[in-house]
Amino acid sequence: MCGIIGYIGPRDVSSVLLGGLKRLEYRGYDSAGLTIKSPEGLVTFKAVGKIAELEKKVGGGNLKGDLGIAHTRWATHGEPNEINAHPHLDAKGEVAIVHNGIIENYYALKDFLTKEGFKIVSDTDSEIIAHLIQKFHNGSFPEAVAKALELIEGTFGLAVIQREENKIIAARRGSPLVLGLGEGEMFIASDVSAVLDYTKKIVYLNDDELAIVERDGYSVKNLKGEEVNKKVYEIKWTLDQIEKKGFKHFMLKEIFEQPEAVINTLRGRVKEGKIKLSLDLDLNSLRRIVIVACGTSWHSALIGKYLLEKNTDIPVEVDYASEFRYRDPLVNKNDLVIVISQSGETADTLAALKEAKAKGAKTLGIINVVGSTIAREVEMGIYSHAGPEIGVASTKAFTVQVIDLLLLALFLRQEKGLKPEKTIINDLEVLPEKIKEVLKQSDNIRKLAKKFVNCKNIIYLGRGLNFPVALEGALKLKEISYIHAEGYPAAEMKHGPIALVDKNMPVMFIATQDGTYEKILSNMEEIKARGGEIIAIINKEDKRISRLTDNIIKVPSVSNELMPIINAVPMQFFAYHVADLKGIDMDKPRNLAKSVTVE
Ligand code: AGP
Repeated sequence: MCGIIGYIGPRDVSSVLLGGLKRLEYRGYDSAGLTIKSPEGLVTFKAVGKIAELEKKVGGGNLKGDLGIAHTRWATHGEPNEINAHPHLDAKGEVAIVHNGIIENYYALKDFLTKEGFKIVSDTDSEIIAHLIQKFHNGSFPEAVAKALELIEGTFGLAVIQREENKIIAARRGSPLVLGLGEGEMFIASDVSAVLDYTKKIVYLNDDELAIVERDGYSVKNLKGEEVNKKVYEIKWTLDQIEKKGFKHFMLKEIFEQPEAVINTLRGRVKEGKIKLSLDLDLNSLRRIVIVACGTSWHSALIGKYLLEKNTDIPVEVDYASEFRYRDPLVNKNDLVIVISQSGETADTLAALKEAKAKGAKTLGIINVVGSTIAREVEMGIYSHAGPEIGVASTKAFTVQVIDLLLLALFLRQEKGLKPEKTIINDLEVLPEKIKEVLKQSDNIRKLAKKFVNCKNIIYLGRGLNFPVALEGALKLKEISYIHAEGYPAAEMKHGPIALVDKNMPVMFIATQDGTYEKILSNMEEIKARGGEIIAIINKEDKRISRLTDNIIKVPSVSNELMPIINAVPMQFFAYHVADLKGIDMDKPRNLAKSVTVE
C-alpha cells in the first residue's frame, strides 16, 4: 500500500525523503514522487517504477529547501503514471499533498469542485484534497486542511505543505501515520521504518487527529481544533521486524491481514443488501462463462464456477490459462472470459486473455495489482483490494478473489431480478470477525504441524466447494515446505489413490458440514480402516468427527459460499508452520517467483 514520508529540518531534504521512500519500498508500489518547499516555491518530481527512477529525476540532490513530502503509490484509482503519482498540487502550485487511503465520496467532491471551476488533472481520488485545501485557505493553513477533511468520507493518511508555510500538516483517519521527533528536525511517515535511521522517538496519530509539525516542535489537535496530548514512544524494533509488523515472515503477516483485506475488498460494493459493481455486461447475449487462471488463482476459479452456476443459469467452465491458450479455444462474442491473477503479470494468463480477445469474447479481470498489464488488457474488472502480497505463497489474495467471485455471482443474480440471499449478505459483513476467530488457532495448528513435519506425503480431501480448498491446501504445503501433497475430491479416493494410504500417509479432510458431510464421514472410515492418520477441519459444533481422530481444527460456521475462505485459513497456517519448523524461509521458496512472467 502507499507510503508517506515528510521532513522538516537542516538536513538535505531530498536525501531524507528519498531514503525514507526506500525504507517504505517493502509496502509495494508502482510510482513515487516528492515535493520540496524551496525559495523558488514548491518543486515537484515524480516517476513511474522504482525509487531509482525518481532519484534520477531529482538529480544529485542539494536542492535548496528546508521541508518536503514524498510518497510511494500503490494504485487504487487510476493507472500508475506520472500524472497520477503523488504529490498532488492545486492549480496555483501553492499546496502539495500526499495521501494514503480511499476517498469514498470522490465523485461527489469532484463534481462539486469542477462546478466551482477547479480543473482536476489526474485520475486519482487524492488530488481533490489539494484543491479543497486551496479553496478553504484564507489565512490559517491548519484550518484550511481541517475544513477540507470534514468533507472527506473514507480513509486518509495525509501530509500537506504550503509554499509560504514553514510547517507540515499531517492528518490521519484509517491509514496509519506517525511523527518522528528529532533535535531541531521532525519527521512524518506511514510507519516507523521510514524514520528509524534518524530517531526512535515516535508519536502515533489516532483517527481524526491533525498534527502541525514545525522544525522545533509539534502540536496535535482533533478535527474540532481541540488540543490532544500525545504519548511519546521509544521504538525497540529492528527495521526487519517493522517491515513485517513484528511477524516472522510476510506470509504470516498476510495471513493475519485477511480480515482487513476482506473489509477493503467489500468497501463500497455491498450497500443496503445490494451489490454495487460497475460492469458493462449484456446478460441476454451471454451464453457461457469461461474462467482461466494459474495456480492458486485457478483454485479460486473452481470456487467461482460453483458460485456463479448456483446464482445464475449460466454454464461456467474453468481452464488452466496455459492449456486454454494453446487449445484454439471455442469462444466467441457470446462468451465472457474471466481472468484471475493476483499479480496481473502472469504470462500464461495474459496470453490466454489475448487469445480470448482475438476470438471476440468479452473479458473481465479479477486482479489485485491496479494498473498491471492484465488489468490494462481486460475490458472490465473487479479489483481485489488485498494490498501488496509479498509472500510467494498466495493467501489474502486467494481470499479476496473468492470474495470478488461471490460479488460477481450475486451481482449477476441481481441483474436477473433475483435479490441476494439475506444470510449471505449478513455473513459477508461478519466474515472478518469469523476469520479472526480462525486466526486464533495458529498455535493449535502449529502443534499439529509439529506432529507431521517429517512426513513425506499428505493427501488433502474435500467435496463440493471444499474440493478446490483441498487443492489449495495441497499447493500451499508443497510450494513452501517441499513435502509432496495432492488434493482430491474425497469420493475419488476409491478410484485409485486409496492404494497410497498407510500409516505414513496422513490425510487432511476438509469436513465442515454441508450436503456431503455424511459421505465425508464414510470416506474417513475408509481411510481409518487402512491405517491412515486423519487430520480434519470441522465445524466447532461437530461432535462426531472427534471420535475418528484427535487431529482436529475447529472453525466457525458461515454460509456455505463463504466456507472456502474460512477453511483455507487453517490450510495456510498448517503449511506455514510446517515450513517454519523445517527452517524454510517460505517468503522466498526455492525455484519459485511471486509473479511467473515467463512461459
Ligand atoms: C500460489 O501460492 C502461487 N504463488 C502461484 O500458484 C500463483 O497463484 C500463480 O503463479 C498465479 O499467480 P497470479 O495470481 O499472480 O496470476
